[in-house]
Amino acid sequence: MEIKTEHLTIRDLTLKDAPFIIKLLNTPGWLRFIGDRGVKTISDAEAYLSKGPMESYAKNGFGLWLVEESESSIPAGLCGLLKRDYLDHPDIGFAFLPEFTGKGYATEAIRATIRLAKINLEIRTLLAITTPDNERSQRALMSTNFSFIKTIVNEKNEQLHLYQCEL
Ligand SMILES: CC(C)(COP(=O)(O)OP(=O)(O)OC[C@H]1O[C@@H](n2cnc3c(N)ncnc32)[C@H](O)[C@@H]1OP(=O)(O)O)[C@@H](O)C(=O)NCCC(=O)NCCS
Repeated sequence: MEIKTEHLTIRDLTLKDAPFIIKLLNTPGWLRFIGDRGVKTISDAEAYLSKGPMESYAKNGFGLWLVEESESSIPAGLCGLLKRDYLDHPDIGFAFLPEFTGKGYATEAIRATIRLAKINLEIRTLLAITTPDNERSQRALMSTNFSFIKTIVNEKNEQLHLYQCEL
């Protein structure tokens, strides 16, 4: 999988992306709004990649992908689709390194993911979940046609805001 947008190249993750994964999963934004996945070493990151995104490519035909800034070829973030047991439809996930936020890259990657979900994967309903206080993420979702549906409680008894987009 590889798609190009105005500023970004979105492609499958491989085990070679382990150093980037360590960096992203330990940023303050990821730790606060997504959670501590305990990924501190290259072997932790390789296990995260193979059991998470790479297993999802094989099982679902989608997963989280790497988002690179095309001009510099530097990995900027992740964006893509997940299938969680407690949600009826796939949901979109995204996160960027702090130095690549405030540039409109998240909305550009979300739009590309929505197009791919609709055209290539024939998905008709996409969901998104955020913590109630994740205002930047909520802004990015609202500006890409997602609507707030309701507050839900996940398996860990955490409150989450559920968003939905009809494709
Ligand atoms: C959520 C997250 C990806 C949002 O990143 P972001 O850069 O704010 O999102 P956008 O791509 O929509 O960018 C919007 C910002 O870029 C600016 N911008 C610059 N050029 C732009 C352009 N061409 N188009 C749109 N926005 C542009 C906007 O003014 C806005 O800036 P502001 O936040 O100062 O108002 C980021 O905060 C993040 O990685 N957070 C941690 C992980 C996380 O919470 N993930 C989501 C879990 S549900």
